[in-house]
Amino acid sequence: MATYLITGANRGIGYEYCRQLQARNDIVIAVCRTASEELKQLGIQVEEGIDITSDASVADLQTRLGNRAIDALINNAGIVKRVTLENLDFDSIREQFEVNALGALRVTHALLPNLKAGSKKAGSKIVLMTSRMGSIADNTSGSSYGYRMSKVALSMAGKSLAHDLKPHGIAVAILHPGLVQTRMTNFTSGGITTEESVKGLLARIDELTLGNTGTFWHANGEVLPW
Ligand SMILES: NC(=O)c1ccc[n+]([C@@H]2O[C@H](COP(=O)([O-])OP(=O)(O)OC[C@H]3O[C@@H](n4cnc5c(N)ncnc54)[C@H](OP(=O)(O)O)[C@@H]3O)[C@@H](O)[C@H]2O)c1
Repeated sequence: MATYLITGANRGIGYEYCRQLQARNDIVIAVCRTASEELKQLGIQVEEGIDITSDASVADLQTRLGNRAIDALINNAGIVKRVTLENLDFDSIREQFEVNALGALRVTHALLPNLKAGSKKAGSKIVLMTSRMGSIADNTSGSSYGYRMSKVALSMAGKSLAHDLKPHGIAVAILHPGLVQTRMTNFTSGGITTEESVKGLLARIDELTLGNTGTFWHANGEVLPW
């Protein structure tokens, strides 16, 4: 039984992480801005009012946790906004960097003492929910400036974290969930369910070790190109 902390836990993939982890008897700390009814129904610990773009908010989360050990941090919260070359909205690009790249790094940095406490037992883990859209090698269709650029930045942070935290016994996974039916994708009919995606994501997290830290995986187990 391990303690997992998940951001963006009120809906989509984040909620499903909470549901599946609770079902297998892990301890879950669900972090969100506003709890959804379905999250409240799970009866797990919910830390509401946390915006990952705010230093004060994330510091508040750390204060609430105190010296509690965390075995796995899943940086799941993210946004996508359409930015094309014809409509290059720099404020939108900046906002996507704030949430997708800096937000995840801010939460990770603030919770390092908790993760280091977790690693004393069996080694702790950090997950960054990136996207295949943040693969430079896989970019065959262009556009999506804010989302693609912010996810590349997130993946790069993940690689540096993997190097920096290996000596502390903390492993890092950089994960793509597949194309998933959530609000982010307008519940696209071409996507997989959150149930299927998170089943694969948890298998990757379970397999994560200091030996394979810093790898970019698809939820289905495929290693993705940078
Ligand atoms: N769905 C896909 O096909 C897909 C593909 C590749 C990667 N991903 C990645 O997977 C992750 C989860 O995506 P999803 O599909 O589950 O998206 P989603 O349903 O849109 O959920 C996004 C979550 O992020 C939270 N969030 C956004 N901005 C935040 C902020 N400033 N502070 C705190 N929380 C914030 C949202 O909270 P609110 O409800 O408060 O807005 C929500 O809980 C994201 O990082 C996404 O980029 C998804």
